[in-house]
Amino acid sequence: MMLPFASLAVFGLALFSHVSATILQNGQVKPTNYPDTRIDLTDYSFQTYPANASEISYKGRWDSKHVSWWSAPGIKFGYTGQTVAISFGNLTSDGVLVGYRIGGLDWMFTNITAGATHLLVSPDTPGSNLTGPINPWTFELRVTNWAYGVQIDAVHVDAGEKLIKIPDFDRRIEVIGDSLAAGMYTSYEGLSSWAYGLGAGLGNTEYSVTAYPGICAADQNCWGNPRGQVHQWFYTSDTSYRASVMHGDNPEPWDFSKHPAADLVVINIGTNDNNKANNVSTEEYIDALTKIIQGIHGKWPKAQVIVMSLWLGFYQSGNTYLPNAPEGWVNEIYQMVKWFNSDDYLRNPIVYDGVTKKTSRSGKKAKPFVHYFNTTGIMQHNDIAPQWHPTDVGAIKVASHLQQFIRIKFDWDLYATGPEVFHDTLYWNDQSGY
Ligand SMILES: *[C@@H]1O[C@H](CO)[C@@H](O)[C@H](O)[C@H]1NC(C)=O
Ligand SMILES: *[C@@H]1O[C@H](CO)[C@@H](O)[C@H](O)[C@H]1NC(C)=O
Ligand SMILES: *[C@@H]1O[C@H](CO)[C@@H](O)[C@H](O)[C@H]1NC(C)=O
Ligand SMILES: *[C@@H]1O[C@H](CO)[C@@H](O)[C@H](O)[C@H]1NC(C)=O
Ligand SMILES: *[C@@H]1O[C@H](CO)[C@@H](O)[C@H](O)[C@H]1NC(C)=O
Ligand SMILES: *[C@@H]1O[C@H](CO)[C@@H](O)[C@H](O)[C@H]1NC(C)=O
Repeated sequence: MMLPFASLAVFGLALFSHVSATILQNGQVKPTNYPDTRIDLTDYSFQTYPANASEISYKGRWDSKHVSWWSAPGIKFGYTGQTVAISFGNLTSDGVLVGYRIGGLDWMFTNITAGATHLLVSPDTPGSNLTGPINPWTFELRVTNWAYGVQIDAVHVDAGEKLIKIPDFDRRIEVIGDSLAAGMYTSYEGLSSWAYGLGAGLGNTEYSVTAYPGICAADQNCWGNPRGQVHQWFYTSDTSYRASVMHGDNPEPWDFSKHPAADLVVINIGTNDNNKANNVSTEEYIDALTKIIQGIHGKWPKAQVIVMSLWLGFYQSGNTYLPNAPEGWVNEIYQMVKWFNSDDYLRNPIVYDGVTKKTSRSGKKAKPFVHYFNTTGIMQHNDIAPQWHPTDVGAIKVASHLQQFIRIKFDWDLYATGPEVFHDTLYWNDQSGY
């Protein structure tokens, strides 16, 4: 098979250079003339909150300087008045595209300038004066691209108005993956990914997408990512060039004790390990995936883990298309899941802290916590884009099937019954005869 992820090797992004590129969508130039929302702070008299204000909730992984990492990280808060402005720090990737919205209304997009203040909600913003049913008004922002990030410096509302803390939802999902979960090559990248769609689509669920393009499960360099998820998942920052510039060899460990445990962890990783160019053996891969699961079990003893089978796209065979199987360690992953559910293992489970493994024997048999999600048959040939990643429709299919699986298996209600999840996916026909 050819090297589907070879293009990942080439994105060495300069940290402080301007983020801009011509995007081809279905072979056409995609318009990226998003509104310029920059303002001069001195023209306004705002009520200002610092980045560490307790009213601001950070979603996904952010470091101690309020810099965002991984895919679709965000912030959320309630506010009074009709104005929200944000000052972004110098460690922002200049020009990075963010999505933001009020309540459950449509996502809006703007490019952020490092060190600038952006006026994101004003009386002119559609919906900014609508008083319900979501009350207080909530503002949410998400970074679209995994390789870039923002630094929050301050949040502003009108003088005399205030921020309001919105309590976290009590359900929590973590997705661990690579480009396939990070949303590479979908329209709005992280904000069009199946991982985001799963969390946002379930509704009333906090979600964090610890996924980065090109990364392996095994701890080795894959497509320029210096470490694998078996190591990096324990850290705040990802494996980007941006992280290497900002944190060097000394990334901040993710402080699991300061953040609530996930209830459900979805793992979709191995396509890069499986790529011959990265030379990861079956044993090394299964060992790394096993340690990731034991790491989750160590950090979050009550979390349920869903392991997704890998898919590798399709090829034309005569007059139809067939999956690129049986590659993708389909059987090995399934056998590993069975092993996690065996009496032998459950009587003597192992936990991993990122460095060492130890037995967590408590005298009684542990409850099964590892589940297999079979992706075969969900996507078809036209759900995979030319560069081997799900299209927007493919991502929506994966998210939707996962939602039903989670509803049936774990009895989770689908609480999102209206708010926009995927932007720019409203395809319709308004003619009944033509
Ligand atoms: C805005 O972001 C998009 C997506 O990254 C990019 O293609 C575009 O060039 C950016 N525009 C500006 C003005 O920075
Ligand atoms: C925010 O940071 C400032 C300066 O370090 C500190 O004085 C303040 O107590 C912090 N506020 C919160 C809510 O942590
Ligand atoms: C950001 O950079 C500008 C220009 O170099 C500097 O004046 C400012 O102090 C910096 N701000 C922060 C928060 O580092
Ligand atoms: C909100 O503002 C729009 C545009 O100015 C206006 O047409 C609408 O009547 C306002 N709605 C409310 C509830 O004030
Ligand atoms: C792949 O790994 C094997 C075993 O570790 C090693 O012998 C071989 O030289 C490696 N091949 C490449 C191309 O790195
Ligand atoms: C996954 O689904 C495919 C298609 O239904 C089926 O052929 C295969 O046996 C399933 N794998 C497992 C391990 O259940």
